[in-house]
Amino acid sequence: MNFAPECQKRHGRNELNKDKKRTSHRLIFGDSENMAELPDGSVQLVVTSPPYFNAPFDYPDLFENYDAYLNKMKGVAKELKRVVSNGRIVCIVCDDMLIGGEKYPIVADLTKIYIDAGFTYRDKIIWIKPEGYIRISRRSGVVLQHPYPMYYYPDNIQETILIFQNGKFDYKSIPPRIKKRSKIDIAEYQEKKWYLTTWSITNVLPLKNRLENGIAAFPEEIPNRLIRLFSYVGENVLDPFMGSGTTNKVAAILQRNSIGYEIDLELMGVIKGKLGLDSLFGKGFDVEIIIRDDAKRLRTQFQNKVSTLRSVARDGEGNPEKSV
Ligand SMILES: C[S@@+](CC[C@H](N)C(=O)[O-])C[C@H]1O[C@@H](n2cnc3c(N)ncnc32)[C@H](O)[C@@H]1O
Repeated sequence: MNFAPECQKRHGRNELNKDKKRTSHRLIFGDSENMAELPDGSVQLVVTSPPYFNAPFDYPDLFENYDAYLNKMKGVAKELKRVVSNGRIVCIVCDDMLIGGEKYPIVADLTKIYIDAGFTYRDKIIWIKPEGYIRISRRSGVVLQHPYPMYYYPDNIQETILIFQNGKFDYKSIPPRIKKRSKIDIAEYQEKKWYLTTWSITNVLPLKNRLENGIAAFPEEIPNRLIRLFSYVGENVLDPFMGSGTTNKVAAILQRNSIGYEIDLELMGVIKGKLGLDSLFGKGFDVEIIIRDDAKRLRTQFQNKVSTLRSVARDGEGNPEKSV
């Protein structure tokens, strides 16, 4: 894996190397509504970010309608309830989505879905991005053009991290040696204010030719915090919506095993690149890639649709209620 210098520094090379064990990483291409490869209770942490329905600049028309989206999310939540071990955590990065002038309450609906699937709703963290970064459109500018009531549309610089728990955790079940190796760096916890329900973290910047182009990837700092706060060294971290493989990469850096499901086979090259697989196969990491019959090819078709949408948005229809 390409270890980020930040993570090496934080954990200290010597500390990591002392007890270092091989970790295993399973990359499965197929629909995560079916995780038949995973035995019941075999996962200790889930860190993921599903598609935000048919997010116009990421996954246009992925789902037939909002009900189809919610049904898919219910199917995945049901599988997660089966594979997540007792007392353990599911973290879901998500956001409401404005499509064609309609706002879809994804955060509220996912909260309900996970509670209905049998998880306890434990916490909600608001991820705040830098103010200068507004990805789609500056809706707030409408008030500048029309400085009157009812023209207000705020710019969105946040996403939500929902945290669910699968029953009660047995704190005595962790051997002292593993606890010691998984200890949280309290100086960093304080300095970066992990203790708050708001996390200020820079998003993956939309640079030209970046690896994650066309993938709504989250920054490594999000799985970095969640994995260190909610799992122990050597445990299994799952991302059922793998995308570019950010969760898997960070899990490997942090000495956890990982499993990722991704429906889009076209992302295999991106994931391999992010994990540095071609250069590091067999060097401390066991990697297994499974391609199932239900994998699809999506990226090229999404990118074509997105570039059409972008040119329409650039021309600008000028109606804020229809802005995407
Ligand atoms: C928001 S992205 C995840 C990005 C990821 N967190 C990262 O940092 O790169 C959601 C991913 O879920 C994938 N996906 C959508 N439906 C899926 C399904 N039913 N099973 C598995 N993957 C799916 C999409 O192709 C997309 O790559």
